Amino acid sequence: MKLKNLESTQQDLLKKLQAIENDAELETFRLEYLSRQGLIAQLFEQLKTLDAQEKREVGPHLNDLKKEIQASFDRKKEELFTQTLERANQKKQNFDVTLSKKHRKGSLHPYTHLTNQIEDIFISMGFQIADGPELETEFFNFTGLNIPANHPAREDSDTFWINDKHLIRTQTSTVQIRMMQNLKPPMALIVPGRVMRNEATDASHDFMFMQLEGMLIAEKISVANLLATLQTFLTKLFEKDVKLRVRPGYFPFVEPGLEIDASCPFCNQGCSTCKKTGWIELLGAGIIHPEVLKHGGIDHTKYSGFAFGCGLTRLAMLKYGIPDIRLLHSSNLKFLQQFS
Ligand code: DAH
Repeated sequence: MKLKNLESTQQDLLKKLQAIENDAELETFRLEYLSRQGLIAQLFEQLKTLDAQEKREVGPHLNDLKKEIQASFDRKKEELFTQTLERANQKKQNFDVTLSKKHRKGSLHPYTHLTNQIEDIFISMGFQIADGPELETEFFNFTGLNIPANHPAREDSDTFWINDKHLIRTQTSTVQIRMMQNLKPPMALIVPGRVMRNEATDASHDFMFMQLEGMLIAEKISVANLLATLQTFLTKLFEKDVKLRVRPGYFPFVEPGLEIDASCPFCNQGCSTCKKTGWIELLGAGIIHPEVLKHGGIDHTKYSGFAFGCGLTRLAMLKYGIPDIRLLHSSNLKFLQQFS
């Protein structure tokens, strides 16, 4: 390009600018014509080679051309930017927040389902829900519950001891004395909670499992109140008329102590769950020992109470037909998703 036809060069460049449609094309234009090695810079170099007279004539034209092209370039840049913004806004307007890829739905753990259901049943009978710490003192787990120092449950093989005085609770019965010390009779509560025992794991045992404790203290409480409460609870839980069978049992914190079986809610004549006996062993229970009431600061001459405990883990396995405790405690999604 020569300095002589600046007029047509200018027209040419303006046309090129007009035809530009995106940032990439604009950048190519800038490099080709407006950059330091670009055409306009080269024209200025050529200008230097002219004699003084020619410079005076051509110089102003070249300056005009540069100004004009730079201004048009800036306008084009602005124009493209506005277009980009508009396009982005348009996209935003079309964005549908409800439209998404397939959701993965979460589901409640079987323990949560069961605990919710049990809590509803007991709340409907006037019980409250209580809890206590999993890291416990030796007193609430053993001594306060009338479990003497030489009791087998104290042996190292069963209990995770933290130090001489502290342990991970081996039973939710720990909450009994805590609640006696906090509340005044009449009181009725249940404690669904986690416990740990130093046991080997197999299909029906794990070192960690869930228990359900229950306690009611008022005046003139007897075994009849205990049985009525448990029968109502189990009948509602299994949605079937459940009968109870009572056998003597030994638990240091109750006197008398009872082992309570329920008629099998899954069969009439006998099935694999009840080992063809028609009964399933479900609970330990009894009338709270006066020593325990004393530890809890309750007047045992005025009040009496019942307590019961059962394996919430076992209940969950029974109710949902789960054959192996390791499934229940796994994070296997295929298993867990069945409980949505
Ligand atoms: N805590 C007992 C256990 O872990 C279960 C139990 C038995 C709780 C009898 C009670 C009870 O409240 O009265 O095996």
